[in-house]
Amino acid sequence: WLVGSEVFQNYGCRMAGGLWITLELVAISVVLGFALAVGLAVARLYGPGWAQAAIKGYTTFFRGTPLLCQLFLVYYGLGQFRLFWTDIGLWWFFREPFYCALLTFVINTAAYQAEILRGAIQSIPRGQFEGALSLGLHRWSTLRHVVMPQAMILALRPLGNELIVMIKSSAVVSLVTIYDLMGATKLAFSRSFDLTIYLYAALIYLILVEVVRRVWDALELRLTRHMAL
Ligand code: ARG
Repeated sequence: WLVGSEVFQNYGCRMAGGLWITLELVAISVVLGFALAVGLAVARLYGPGWAQAAIKGYTTFFRGTPLLCQLFLVYYGLGQFRLFWTDIGLWWFFREPFYCALLTFVINTAAYQAEILRGAIQSIPRGQFEGALSLGLHRWSTLRHVVMPQAMILALRPLGNELIVMIKSSAVVSLVTIYDLMGATKLAFSRSFDLTIYLYAALIYLILVEVVRRVWDALELRLTRHMAL
């Protein structure tokens, strides 16, 4: 009955396309956000005072305001400066809703991930750092080869949760003309007035989240098997 139903016959293809957009958007922003977050977390912990203050302000803003509000600020707000973007050759970027959403998501998830990483790094006992230094390792090598590998295991679970939150939150991009899974579903509903289409969408998001959760459980098991936890 699932695949055979009429709405699915009519709009299944569109929704599959929407699902792909959702996956693309979330995957790219979480990966880029992670790269940014590593830099932010390290700078927040070991950087100069002004950098620490700036990063604190950044994370406070992006974790303390709604994602939808941030998306509108980028899409409608930054999108207004058309002449400026044209001058510096970036208009193609802000003209495109997908890129606006991508930018918003990267800076949003980077703020959350930076705090996750900072917490994880701070949870590694000082003795690990001092021990490595006393063995003759440079400060950066200690961070890179001794502290970071341990911190990443601690950060793994909250990072998985962050990925799940981003998958579900990505539905907000349907409000800036993007036909992601939610956008495609909204369109299908507005044409068919068949409410079951939202049930299909819910089911697809649920499956997505459940897959990530299981992959993460397996990953965590593998990475901690050698430890007496
Ligand atoms: N849904 C929440 C919001 O609109 C969270 C969005 C981002 N959360 C996150 N962990 N990246 O603010």
